[in-house]
Amino acid sequence: MTAIRSTLDPAGEDFRAASSSMSDKLVEIRTEFDKALAGGGEKYVARHRERGKMTARERIEMLIDEDSAFLELCPLAAYGSDFQVGASAVTGIGVVEGVECMIVANDPTVKGGTSNPWTLRKILRCNDIALQNRLPMISLVESGGADLPTQKEVFVPGGRMFRDLTRLSAAGIPTIALVFGNSTAGGAYVPGMSDHVVMIENASKVFLGGPPLVKMATGEDSDDESLGGAQMHARQSGLADYFAADEQDAVRLGRRIVSRLNWRKQGPGPVAEVLEPRYDAEELLGIVPSDLKIPFNPRDVIARVVDDSDFDEFKPDYGSSLCTGWARIHGYPVGILANAQGVLFSQESQKATQFIQLANRSNTPLLFLHNTTGYMVGKEYEQNGIIKHGSMMINAVSNSTVPHISVLMGASYGAGHYGMCGRAYDPRFLFAWPSAKSAVMGAAQLAGVISIVSRAATEARGGTVDESADAAMKQMIEAQIEAESVPAFLSGMLYDDGVIDPRDTRTILGLCLSAIDSGPVEGTSNFGVFRM
Ligand code: COA
Repeated sequence: MTAIRSTLDPAGEDFRAASSSMSDKLVEIRTEFDKALAGGGEKYVARHRERGKMTARERIEMLIDEDSAFLELCPLAAYGSDFQVGASAVTGIGVVEGVECMIVANDPTVKGGTSNPWTLRKILRCNDIALQNRLPMISLVESGGADLPTQKEVFVPGGRMFRDLTRLSAAGIPTIALVFGNSTAGGAYVPGMSDHVVMIENASKVFLGGPPLVKMATGEDSDDESLGGAQMHARQSGLADYFAADEQDAVRLGRRIVSRLNWRKQGPGPVAEVLEPRYDAEELLGIVPSDLKIPFNPRDVIARVVDDSDFDEFKPDYGSSLCTGWARIHGYPVGILANAQGVLFSQESQKATQFIQLANRSNTPLLFLHNTTGYMVGKEYEQNGIIKHGSMMINAVSNSTVPHISVLMGASYGAGHYGMCGRAYDPRFLFAWPSAKSAVMGAAQLAGVISIVSRAATEARGGTVDESADAAMKQMIEAQIEAESVPAFLSGMLYDDGVIDPRDTRTILGLCLSAIDSGPVEGTSNFGVFRM
């Protein structure tokens, strides 16, 4: 019997306080998500509809199989910037004719669907997800191309959008473009670089330069239709493979194309029947205390996420600040690494390294549940080789080839963020709970470090420290770092794939594991040199 016995007390005061704090944070995230849902706002959405067009979300809804889930990715992109939350694109994984596909839809109601620096990062992230997980890519195109005022940040790196499309194709991953409207300049290369292209009569406009630009460049008089209309591309240029009568017809053709791909997943598939956890997912709201300095037991989370709450813990009495073990989620096997006490010591690092190697031997995907303040500092720990052991864990995470998924539940600070497979370590997916915080270190600690360093510098110069200025500086830095550590901000920067409701964790992990299963799941025994 390996079912976890959760020790959480849902009737207790701690639970109530944590749950109320989590609910408040969820409301804040929902408010931001609503901004993304609103697209360019009432005026632009109304104008779009008057033109007889569907919104980006309606196009996606019509494209995916009825009643199937759509795992939206990076909905808070551009939060905290001058651009609309959502970054003028709606992206995610949806099931089309039974095939899990990456869907990237421009939102034409936001600045003509143009790509600003955040749109670009969002689309490139989706391209990576499609390539790593072998997901067919469907682009729902209607974009005025680069956001011209920020072109210096978009133009040069933006070339990767088109390179990615052909690399997907070269990797045998189908790319499909349904062109709903304008697809100018660089945007013309989205259909240009896609395997399958659908264009819509009197709606698609695909040209390198529109009539005004052509007039400027060569003096030639032209119009939209002769330069880049669907009829012209279907009959003359050959850029359109399918000619749709209207938007609905284009979606229908897109679905037909997917149904003819003869797509087969290459993963091993689920290995067991799906059993629901023995504990209520609602209770996931009340586990993480609002003060992240207070530790919580990640087994209470695992018990509410994994099949049948069944968990075989590995080395439970060794390096107990990191909980490791084997479980299944929606029938897919996973190895879990979850921080139990925040700090990572040498034993925890060595245990993680061994565990990651074992997962690679058995081709088992890994799930990292973050709540870490980083690796332990101090004389004793340095002398006992904490750098060496932390590096060992980071080596294992970096070179492991089984799919990784990270969920930031609480703290994710310092090199602990790296060792637990933070963004730079290429987890297939990374989500954050509203309770998460991530930074080089905690805001108070960071402000304290700056204060100590600047006081020492002042004293070394023979000056005297102005105590009130020092206190004000500390307060200001702490507030800045605090604001930059919250999940909406990090999500805005594309440092995660979304902030999720803790209660949805199991469903989202199941969707991710199923998407991951589109490609092969293969471990390695090839790691960097481990310094023993
Ligand atoms: N960069 C920045 N902003 C842009 C833009 C661009 N490339 N294209 C459009 N916008 C802005 C418009 O200024 C307008 O802003 P406002 O409403 O705040 O004034 C908003 O997006 C909507 O544009 P509008 O022209 O009213 O929308 P539309 O739906 O009628 O037409 C386009 C959309 C994209 C077809 C049209 O705006 C256009 O042709 N844009 C230029 C495309 C281009 O040449 N791009 C080259 C990129 S390399």
